[in-house]
This record gives sequence, structure tokens and C-alpha cells, in this order.
Amino acid sequence: MIWASGWRLASAVSNAGGLGLIGSGSMYPDVLKEHIKKCKSATARPFGVNVPLLYPDIDKHIQIIIEEGIKIVFTSAGNPKTWTGVLKEKGITVVHVVSSSKFAKKAEESGADAVVAEGFEAGGHNGREETTTIVLVPAVVDAIKIPVLAAGGIATGKQMLAAMVLGAEGVQIGTRFVASDEASSHPSFKNKVINTHEGDTILTMKQLTPVRLIKNNFYKEVQEAEWRGASVEELKELLGRARAKKGMFEGDLEEGELEIGQVSLLLNDILPAGRIVKKLWEEFEQALAVPVKKL
Ligand SMILES: Cc1cc2nc3c(=O)[nH]c(=O)nc-3n(C[C@H](O)[C@H](O)[C@H](O)COP(=O)(O)O)c2cc1C
Repeated sequence: MIWASGWRLASAVSNAGGLGLIGSGSMYPDVLKEHIKKCKSATARPFGVNVPLLYPDIDKHIQIIIEEGIKIVFTSAGNPKTWTGVLKEKGITVVHVVSSSKFAKKAEESGADAVVAEGFEAGGHNGREETTTIVLVPAVVDAIKIPVLAAGGIATGKQMLAAMVLGAEGVQIGTRFVASDEASSHPSFKNKVINTHEGDTILTMKQLTPVRLIKNNFYKEVQEAEWRGASVEELKELLGRARAKKGMFEGDLEEGELEIGQVSLLLNDILPAGRIVKKLWEEFEQALAVPVKKL
């Protein structure tokens, strides 16, 4: 996750038994390299790197990932055909994030090892189809043969179990980990996340690149720009790196972009990432042990 998952969060999740991912989308190449090196010294367990495929310096990121011997890459926001082959040739496991069955099939055809089916509820960039996780996961499971991980709206063990019942073999969790001690997100943003209510987040910017964020002055600006028919360049500028950094990293809760998922409304604490992983499994085991009608 941009401005949230650096080496601290990724290594804490991996140390707790999850698969931590470094979010390279907000990092310049030299910063990514530093985070990979620090993550290696902070955990002996596997971790991966998330690469948004539309990132302008993507070839440099891929080069660093290969040089540093990264074994798992999650790609998103772009055509999986371009880089999957290159990564697979180096023996890297590639998981591609999709928002529809159509894109899931494309990921499978391009040689991806698994997909993340990310539903409408999810924080950050998302699909235009608005398919919710509960509908998307079984649809994608039916459409392809490779494993499916569910994402979007999962922050508790019960939700994790629900995703598995729908056919997912694992889950990708974002929002819950923004509200963690190790996330590099600004403390004001973390506090905002645990104080959101129903209806506070929205999927906006659907013509350009849909993104779920918290409604604030920045969102109003985006909305006004869309209403007056702003050019693609203007919208791109508005949604660019600077406003995301301003909101999520520097903590400007009104003028910055605050990407987060619907499930933030269920959160009311900021916890160590390791505790979150442990709690998820405890809740999962408890939910599994209860007869269905009592859940
Ligand atoms: C602050 C934030 C930043 C994110 N950045 C990225 C990113 O750079 N690349 C990506 O593939 N997904 C990104 N995501 C999406 C997450 O990886 C994950 O799929 C999503 O958060 C899951 O839904 P949830 O938020 O309901 O847990 C981001 C999500 C959040 C909340």
C-alpha cells in the first residue's frame, strides 16, 4: 500500500506468519532498494513487493526486484502481459490483482501464478464494475483454474472465513494494516481511519482511475473537476503523487487524498501488525468452531 507498507509493516506481517508486501508504488527506485534491504534484515521469512504496473519508473523497479532476489511479486493496475513473463523467467512467483473475471482470465493467460480478486469495498484503486467481494470471489473462482486470494472488506477472522467459504485460498488485507503501529501512514490519518463511519468512503474518479477514499475537501475538488468536465491531464494532476503523499503520509486530512476501504468503519484501534495477524487467526478459528446457525 502506497505511503503505508514499507519495510517495517512488511517485515512485521511476515514475522507474524503472514506474507508482508512492500508497496513500491510511492517509492523512487533507490527508496525501494533501501526498503528491500531493511526488510531482509528485519525478517528471515518470505516477503514480497507490490508493483503497480502503471508506475512510470517500472523498469527500474523490476530491475531492483530481480537484482535483490525477491521471490514474490504482486502486480496491479495495468496489463499483466507486459511484465509477468519477465518475472517468471527469473523464477519469481507472480500474483496479479483483478477486479473482474475478465481481467482474471487475462492474468491467467499471461502466466500469473494466482490472482487477488479485489472487490468494490477495497481501499485504494479499484475496478469500474463495482462488483462486491462477496460476488466477485465466487465469479473469479469459477472463471479460472489458478488460486484466488480475496481482497476488499476483510479485517476480521470471520470475514476471512467467509472469503474461504466463497472459494478463496487466502486473503489480501489492506485497510486493517493501515491502522497498525508499523504502517508508515501519518498518525492523523490512522486516527481518521479508526473514526470513520458508514458512508464516509466512496469510489470516485471512475472515468480515469477509480479510487476509494475518504470524503474530504480533496474529494470535493475531484468531484467538482469531474462535473465541469476537466481534462484527463487535469484529473491526472489532481490524483497524482503529491496529494496522496499530502494526505496519507503528511497527515493533511482535508487537502490530501486519503485512500481507505469501507471496512474502516469496523475498526476502532491501532494495533501492532503482529497482533493483528494473531487476532485474525484467533477469530478465524473461533468462527470455524461455532456451528453455522450460531455464528
Ligand atoms: C492506503 C492504501 C494504499 C493502497 N495502495 C495499493 C498499491 O499501491 N497497490 C495495490 O495493488 N493495492 C493498493 N491498495 C489496495 C490493497 O493492496 C488491498 O487490495 C485493499 O486494501 C484490500 O481491501 P481492504 O482495504 O478492504 O482491506 C491500497 C490500499 C490502501 C488502503
